[in-house]
Amino acid sequence: MRPKVLVTRKIPDRGINILKGQCDVEICQQDGPISRKELLKKLKSKKYDAVLCLLTEKIDDELLDAAGSNLKIVANYAVGFDNIDLKACTKHGIIATNTPNVLNQAVAEHTIALMMSIARRIPEADRWTRKGNYKGWDPNGFIGTEFNGKILGIIGAGRIGTVVAKICNKGFNMKVLYHDVAKNSYIEQETNARFVDLNTILRESDFVSLHVPAIETTRHLISHKEFAMMKKTAYIINTSRGPVINEDALIHALENKTIAGAALDVFECEPKLVCDPNNYQIVSHLDNVVFTPHIASATIEARQSMSELAAKNILAVLNGEMPITQINTDLKINGIKKGIITDATSYFYANNGMVIKNLTELQTALEKMDDQAFNYHVNSMKNDFANWVKNTIKDQVASALLEKSRTRSQAVNAVKHRLKIMIAA
Ligand code: GLV
Ligand code: GLV
Repeated sequence: MRPKVLVTRKIPDRGINILKGQCDVEICQQDGPISRKELLKKLKSKKYDAVLCLLTEKIDDELLDAAGSNLKIVANYAVGFDNIDLKACTKHGIIATNTPNVLNQAVAEHTIALMMSIARRIPEADRWTRKGNYKGWDPNGFIGTEFNGKILGIIGAGRIGTVVAKICNKGFNMKVLYHDVAKNSYIEQETNARFVDLNTILRESDFVSLHVPAIETTRHLISHKEFAMMKKTAYIINTSRGPVINEDALIHALENKTIAGAALDVFECEPKLVCDPNNYQIVSHLDNVVFTPHIASATIEARQSMSELAAKNILAVLNGEMPITQINTDLKINGIKKGIITDATSYFYANNGMVIKNLTELQTALEKMDDQAFNYHVNSMKNDFANWVKNTIKDQVASALLEKSRTRSQAVNAVKHRLKIMIAA
């Protein structure tokens, strides 16, 4: 019998076509997100092996209970996964996956588009021009801000934040400051970025761009105190998640011109523009803010690739293989019902999707990996490879060698050296 896959809403077809090769695919046909009630009803009525869901669907205990024991994977069609209760997935023995990397460029480009829109007042000028207001060239009309030589502050220097920094540094000659839980030597190499604390970013940046996930520690990361620290001439751009900014504080900052402006793709009470309906009139009339409706990844390239990656994750799990981008990496793979034999904790998931099980595979992976992927795992704050080798493979010699390797080629040589000693012994 072919496995059954439920897709909760129409998405670009590349992944759907891949799934149809091996599975019975049911695509929910409603306009807009599927209602919770409808989704629970569907999951109870039929035993699906996989669910391809969107960030509008909350994946929690209740939903997984409704889906029952046939379900093996929930593939999120998004990089962010604040809609998924990972603990619940692991408890139910269900693999959860997301779609990282394939949308980095799209989201970064949209971030730049928002920056330009707010700093050069494009939506405002467009509204004005449409009204027939343009009566002749004006030396003082719609004066904006240039990017050249300005300071960009990246909060959350992950895959997307790094691409934004590169475009701004190489394209606009901007200086880059960044803050994250760990240093990122790749962004430093590529853009001369400087690692600073959050307050320094807020005080010094002309443009602050947010690229953190929505987790407890990032909720209201930017609030009254933070806006007060920013330059009066500075702009904030948010293509991450709405709750990272305290909306009340934002409205206050925009109304009082504490900052020059904001450009937002995400909202605290999404899909509502404002949490408190009383604020709608105020916010919808502000000219120092630009909105887009959560479309940062909305390019044909990114959305087709997200579709493909979600489908490949599903097929991998249904075929008893490792998915490419699992997010509940604590799930022991032998906990799922079909096929996979090994304990997931003995694998290493590199951020470029490579799965590494032993030193030989680590060597191959390091040889194939690009420097960005390497630096994501090995930087001044951490050495994921050394830690994994020490704690999971329990090879203290290899771990010590890797600990000393600061570049990818040094790490390759360290592993080669260790393997050679092992063969000799
Ligand atoms: C969109 O917001 C995503 O997380 O992919
Ligand atoms: C998201 O994928 C990020 O790392 O910024």
